[in-house]
Parts: sequence; structure tokens; C-alpha cells
Amino acid sequence: MAASATSCLLSFARYRVWLATLAAAVLTACAVDPQSATDAEPLVDVPPGFAEQTYPPDNVPTPERVALGKRLFYDLRLSNANDVSCGTCHDPAKAFTDGLPTSRGTSGRMGVRNAPSLANVGYLPALMREGGVPTLEMQILVPIQEHAEFDLEAPFLVSRLSVDSALQQMSRWAYSRPLDIWVITRAIASFERTLVSGRSRADEGRLSDAERRGKEIFHRVGCGTCHGGPLYTNNRMACNGLLESYADRGRARLTNNASDEAVFRVPSLRNVGRTAPYLHNGSIASLTVVIQRYNSGGYPHPNKDMLLKPLNLSASECDDLEAFLLALTDDRFTTNPRFRP
Ligand code: HEC
Ligand code: HEC
Repeated sequence: MAASATSCLLSFARYRVWLATLAAAVLTACAVDPQSATDAEPLVDVPPGFAEQTYPPDNVPTPERVALGKRLFYDLRLSNANDVSCGTCHDPAKAFTDGLPTSRGTSGRMGVRNAPSLANVGYLPALMREGGVPTLEMQILVPIQEHAEFDLEAPFLVSRLSVDSALQQMSRWAYSRPLDIWVITRAIASFERTLVSGRSRADEGRLSDAERRGKEIFHRVGCGTCHGGPLYTNNRMACNGLLESYADRGRARLTNNASDEAVFRVPSLRNVGRTAPYLHNGSIASLTVVIQRYNSGGYPHPNKDMLLKPLNLSASECDDLEAFLLALTDDRFTTNPRFRP
């Protein structure tokens, strides 16, 4: 995709024509889409119940910034062997996860963690499973340099991409300067801030009887204490004790405190029906098993949160709970053409 797009962008003039055609196509698509409102969709959606995002003053999203960020997000040249892009591990159809227990990076190198969804990442106060990275702009440097992800030095990446005159033009439009690592990280972060998901059936109150019962159970047994609010996470750090042993130290990797062993950021449950397998290491394959583990109270662990106790739900109550979690899937998010290459 990146390669074929590049080859047709021979000149600036042709590129502008291409962009205008694309813009027209997007507008036409909106006009005929019965799902969409009469107005064109805003650049960054704010679903009911959601706050506005706070943007860094030097990186307020614009159409030019988001377009460049999307190009880079799906560009295989970001990886050492030109074989992996951000979109390889964060696939829109899977709510920007990859379906693997742990991710596979450049040259097939296996990582140690499960790729999290990027839905609503613009709202997160801290990123990564131990919550150690404060901004999206900074987070992008992690996969670029990580051996089991892209494995590239930033200066090498910049020189590799700088020969692409179409990217250079987009960079000038977006940030009024030539492509560099500042532009690359800011543009990709701008694209990420558009990945908002808050229009599932659960949000719209269109639930079946089973899903409605599941919602009541979800709140009654305390799931909503951690996985609550519009993002379905309180963004706190916790150990839920669902695994018998933890090879990954979790937040202790950052702090070295015994009380942070096996402690991870509470993940959002939005689109959880699309983000299997589950937990920081993808070791639980299905929602059914996640719910069974919570129902049994999980395994003993010194850091396990006090909220987690055996729930004694019946089999049909567990089914209802699962049905509710599946109703958090936002099909408009996973199929949105604006998020695709
Ligand atoms: C090889 C697969 C892989 C690639 C390539 C990759 N990621 Fe990730 N991403 C992951 C994994 C795994 C994690 C979880 C890492 C952790 O918590 O230690 C992650 C975490 C993240 C997070 C933090 C999300 C959260 O909830 O905390 C963001 C944002 C993100 N990636 C964006 C990107 C962007 C942007 C790119 C391209 C520049 C990218 N990723 C490339 C696998 C990948
Ligand atoms: C004390 C806070 C807390 C409570 C209460 C809690 N969870 Fe969690 N939940 C977590 C944490 C932390 C994780 C991530 C753990 C990991 O990665 O190892 C998690 C992970 C999950 C996941 C996997 C998500 C993913 O993308 O990997 C699901 C599903 C889930 N919880 C559902 C529930 C349900 C259903 C309940 C109620 C029965 C519940 N949780 C109660 C903290 C909590």
C-alpha cells in the first residue's frame, strides 16, 4: 500500500489532484452514508458522555496532520526490514490490536506483550501496560527503537523517509517544516487522537434482555469500579490476580517496588469482543475464560486488589455478563474508512 501510493505520487501537481479526489471521495461517502449525520463528521469525534480531548499546544490536530500521521501509521518503511507498520500490530478491524498473544515485529521477532487497542488513546493520562509513558508523541519512539518492533534508529528512519517527496510535501503542509522525528511523532499522534470509540449499542441503550441483565451484573459485582466511566477504565493500576504466576513484573519494571509486582493499567473494555486474546501477555484466549476466572476470584497474589473476590455467578449470569461485554463493540469504529490505509 505505501509503495504503490508512493509510485503514483510522481509530482506535486499530481499529488494535489490525488488529494482533492480523495477529499471529494470522502465527502461523497459521508453524504450517501445513511448512518452519518447531515453535517460532515468532525475531525475528532466527541461521542455523548465524552469530554473534549486536551491537545498539546504545539500539536492540535488538523486534516493535514492527521493525513500525514495516517500515511506514516501504515508505512512499512518504519521497520528495519520494511515488513511491519504500526497497523500490522494495531489493525483497525481488531480495534487496533493484532489478534496474537504477543506481537511479532520486524523479521518475525516475538515481543513479550499483547498489543493493546488504540481506541481512545488520546484520553489516556499514561500509556503502556505499566503506565510509564506520559504522551502519545513520546510513545511513538518506543516501537521505533524497540528490537522486537521496528528496530530503527530515529536519524536513520528520518533519512530513509526524507527522500520521499510526497511525504516531504505533506510535512510542510502539516507543520511548515521538513520531515524529521518531531514531525513524525507529532503527525502519528494526531492520527491516533482521531481514534475515538464511543458509539456501541451499549452507549445507545440498544441492548437485548440478556445484555441488559449482564450490564446490571457488571455494576453489581464491581467490574465497573475499575472498568467504569465513559472509557470503561478508571485508568488506575491494579493486579487482578487472574494468572497463577506472573513472568512480567508489570509496574514493578518501572518502580522496582514489591507492591507493584503484577500490577498493570486497567484496560478499557470497549470493543473487547474484537481484542482477543486477553491480558498483558495475551494468555487468556476467550472472554468466557476471563469471566470464569473473575467468577472464581482468581489466584492468590499479595498485590491482588481487595475488590476481587469469588462472585458465585451462575452459568447463565456469566453468559449475560459476556453478552454485555460483547455489546461494547463499536462497529462504526472498527469499520470506519477514515481509519484505514
Ligand atoms: C510489533 C508490534 C507493534 C508495532 C509495530 C507497534 N506496536 Fe504499539 N504496541 C504494541 C505492544 C505489544 C504494546 C504494549 C507495550 C507495553 O505495554 O509494553 C503497544 C503499545 C502501544 C501504545 C500504548 C497503548 C496503551 O493503551 O497504553 C500505543 C499508543 C501504541 N502502541 C501505538 C503504536 C504506534 C503509533 C506504532 C507505530 C509507530 C506502534 N504502536 C507500533 C505492539 C506494536
Ligand atoms: C481492581 C480492578 C479490577 C476489577 C474490579 C476488575 N478488573 Fe478487569 N482488569 C483489571 C486489570 C488490571 C486488567 C489487566 C490485567 C492484565 O493485563 O494482566 C483487567 C483485565 C480485564 C479484561 C481483559 C481486557 C483485555 O483487553 O485484555 C477483561 C475482559 C476484564 N478485565 C473484565 C472484567 C470484568 C468482567 C470484571 C468484573 C467481574 C472485572 N474485569 C473487574 C482490573 C480490574
